[in-house]
Amino acid sequence: MSESSNPLELVRKLLSVIYTVLGLIVFAGLILIYAVYIEPYENSDVVTETEIVKPDVDGLVEGEGREVVATNCTVCHSAKLITQNRATREGWQNMIRWMQETQNLWQLGDNEVVILDYLEKYYAPEAKGRRQALKNIEWYELED
Ligand code: HEC
Repeated sequence: MSESSNPLELVRKLLSVIYTVLGLIVFAGLILIYAVYIEPYENSDVVTETEIVKPDVDGLVEGEGREVVATNCTVCHSAKLITQNRATREGWQNMIRWMQETQNLWQLGDNEVVILDYLEKYYAPEAKGRRQALKNIEWYELED
């Protein structure tokens, strides 16, 4: 009777093959779990460029403060609403107040000055050609 034909020896070989296969399956499973659930989140604080939401600067004139305007003023509507409008500093401030009072625009803090500087400089009323609409007129009594 040769060694390999010993039934116990056969069972032992079979078992070792089964253990090897099981071991490989468990190993592959661990790698899979790592690849799917752990690895993608390991460096999650590293923001890749594609994840950065670029503010919509579309159409806003290049100039100091544009990024601040784009960041704060294109969340609810497009920049077009701004570029279509022209106003004095006071006019822009009134629009901002109106949005703060009625449209949930947040307090702009130090950015408000930056935003108003930008809007006043690049989106001022076109002075030439047409008289601006009268605003905030203080009427006075005529003497008789
Ligand atoms: C929280 C939302 C929100 C943010 C942020 C916001 N707006 Fe508005 N804004 C509105 C809404 C709502 C309207 C009205 C839109 C409409 O009539 O279709 C509006 C209208 C406007 C208008 C048109 C006003 C008019 O009389 O036609 C201008 C100009 C404007 N916004 C400028 C700005 C500027 C400048 C900023 C940044 C300081 C800003 N918005 C940020 C909500 C917002």
